[in-house]
Amino acid sequence: MSHNLLKGKKGIIFGALDEKSIAWKTALHCVAEGAEIVLTNAPIAIRMGEINELAKQCNAPIIPADVTNMDDLENLFIKTKEHFGGGVDFMLHSIGMSVNVRKGNDYTNLNYDFMHKSVDISAMSLHRVLQTAMKHDAINEWGSVVALTFIAAHLAFPNYNEMADIKAMLESITRSFGYQYGNKKHVRINTVSQSPTITTAGQGIAGFDGFVSFSEKMSPLGNATAEQCAEFTVALFSDYTRMVTMQNLFHDGGFSSTGVSEAVVAQMGK
Ligand SMILES: NC(=O)c1ccc[n+]([C@@H]2O[C@H](COP(=O)([O-])OP(=O)(O)OC[C@H]3O[C@@H](n4cnc5c(N)ncnc54)[C@H](O)[C@@H]3O)[C@@H](O)[C@H]2O)c1
Repeated sequence: MSHNLLKGKKGIIFGALDEKSIAWKTALHCVAEGAEIVLTNAPIAIRMGEINELAKQCNAPIIPADVTNMDDLENLFIKTKEHFGGGVDFMLHSIGMSVNVRKGNDYTNLNYDFMHKSVDISAMSLHRVLQTAMKHDAINEWGSVVALTFIAAHLAFPNYNEMADIKAMLESITRSFGYQYGNKKHVRINTVSQSPTITTAGQGIAGFDGFVSFSEKMSPLGNATAEQCAEFTVALFSDYTRMVTMQNLFHDGGFSSTGVSEAVVAQMGK
């Protein structure tokens, strides 16, 4: 059901790979709420082709950009401004990739060239995107930026590997750039810390399915779905959250505030 929360707003959605992607669901929700969007992803993801279906459904252009490539990002903001005839009101950074996880390297046996790449794609990219947007004055006054993170930035989750450290950096960039962009143009920047969610990125983590059930049992409200994450993100893009910035917002059914649940204790007692 639409409430026209984003009527007249324009935005960029990074990271829709397939139907399961959090960015895919967010794109659909933004358009349903009255927004116009531009879709972007790495050229290799676009070649996989599924994003064309989303573009059709959203009536949105696709502008390829590898977030580690400054020329691509410059081109993205120039073309987006041309397309909309001005800046955007919101951006979703829904990007994550760990090369060490992909290669099966344990946290105590990391390859640092791989780690550089993972940091660049998954955390530094937020800085690159924001710096390029600022240079092109591509985000309108009172704009809203959301990046996605995971609680492993705060608590040890062994299988999350190098991504735990990288998400901590992402959350720090959110605060540091949130200060700068807030001062300069009232642009707000927040991270949403989402429950484990079955997506391509999520399923790359060893033991992921077991962890999804554990988290479901631990959280008083259960795991938050990708659909619900999209709804929460729409709220953060809307004018109802204009004074929220530089925050890490847990969207996890209460997992982050629960020491242990009765369901988990009962299971352990068996
Ligand atoms: N799935 C989960 O359990 C979960 C939980 C919390 C947070 N998150 C975060 O949500 C975000 C979205 O992930 P998802 O779960 O929807 O998975 P996903 O695999 O659908 O999305 C990840 C996206 O990152 C893009 N990407 C990778 N390298 C890129 C590059 N160089 N340039 C541009 N884009 C690039 C991919 O093409 C893909 O679209 C990530 O930041 C992830 O860490 C996921």
